[in-house]
Amino acid sequence: MTAKSTSDAILQAVDVLNRGGLVAFPTETVYGLGADASNPDAIQAIYAAKGRPSHHPVIVHVAEPSQIWRWINVSPKTKALAHQLVAAFWPGPLTLIFKRHSSVPASVSGGQDTIGIRCPSHPIAHALLAAFASTRGERLAGIAAPSANRFGHVSPTRAQHVVDEFADLVAQGLPVLDGGDSEVGIESTILDLSRIDQGHGVALLRPGGIEASAIEAIIGEPLQGPNGQAPRVSGSLKAHYSPRTPMQLCDFDALPALTLGSNFATNNHDEWALVLRQSQFEQAHAMIASSAKVSLIALPDDPMMYARQLYAQLRELDQGQFFRIVWLSVPEGQSWDAVRDRLTRAAAAFEGRD
Ligand code: TXA
Ligand code: MG
Repeated sequence: MTAKSTSDAILQAVDVLNRGGLVAFPTETVYGLGADASNPDAIQAIYAAKGRPSHHPVIVHVAEPSQIWRWINVSPKTKALAHQLVAAFWPGPLTLIFKRHSSVPASVSGGQDTIGIRCPSHPIAHALLAAFASTRGERLAGIAAPSANRFGHVSPTRAQHVVDEFADLVAQGLPVLDGGDSEVGIESTILDLSRIDQGHGVALLRPGGIEASAIEAIIGEPLQGPNGQAPRVSGSLKAHYSPRTPMQLCDFDALPALTLGSNFATNNHDEWALVLRQSQFEQAHAMIASSAKVSLIALPDDPMMYARQLYAQLRELDQGQFFRIVWLSVPEGQSWDAVRDRLTRAAAAFEGRD
């Protein structure tokens, strides 16, 4: 069961971490599956639980921005940039990638010479990290945590999602701290600062909770895209964040053609789901009124509100008996980048399948 996040539950979770075990905990982005980041065996247990390839790095979470310097190896130039970003966005949904300090186990980085680190703002994540740090003395105090879902599946934004995802581990005693619904609802923005000294700019590896323009306003230069030399990011795999029900994206204009197409015309007994934005509801409803076998689901028109509900909506739809989920594409423009990225990857798993 999920433990209400009393201080007792947090102390018990710290004890589990110190014994090399796993703990699921809330963050403002998504729930994480955490382990002591300085313990290679504990990190291995995260990979095993998720079914994640062991060369994929995980993010280290720390209680306070001031704790990052022990984990990373930076030149004065990179440090100055880090200070600017940390002051502007931490605690919060931003992950920074640096060169890894030699005293930090390579397993946390999937063997790479870099490390991803972030300071979450969720009060329970902070309380857990601070309580863990208080038991560590001079030792490194960070919690390595990917999103608490099976590899490639939809990320969890509430404690019940974690329980659904890891029912077996929960039955064996995995503590799941309950912090309510994650406020941001999609993962952190990831920036690569590991190659500044080689003359590269700051690269955006994953759009997320903080918009690129807000970051550019702080650093005073445009963000670069990832390139072949950039570190591996599993969230950059073409198919990721996927539901189990077949899902496809569709532009609003293509909706009539799609629903008259063979998939839908020949399947007149099963129900399908159409996900759109509130402002599209009336028009879409009129357009497909003759197709009775459809459930319309409207999400907010505001991109941040939409992001907050995205994964919970995907999970809920997956539990329905729909034969297909049709998801209307979101608008162009940077404020929708993170949502568009997740939707594109969620649907990519079903490309070419009918
Ligand atoms: O919002 C988040 O970032 C959530 C919460 C729990 O903090 N965590 C999360 O973790 O999304 P995960 O493992 O699902 O995604 C982290 C991404 C992965 O795609 C991983 O490859 C990338 O961060 N990453 C971590 N360390 C890295 C590194 N050293 N170099 C390149 N990519 C890294
Ligand atoms: Mg993930």
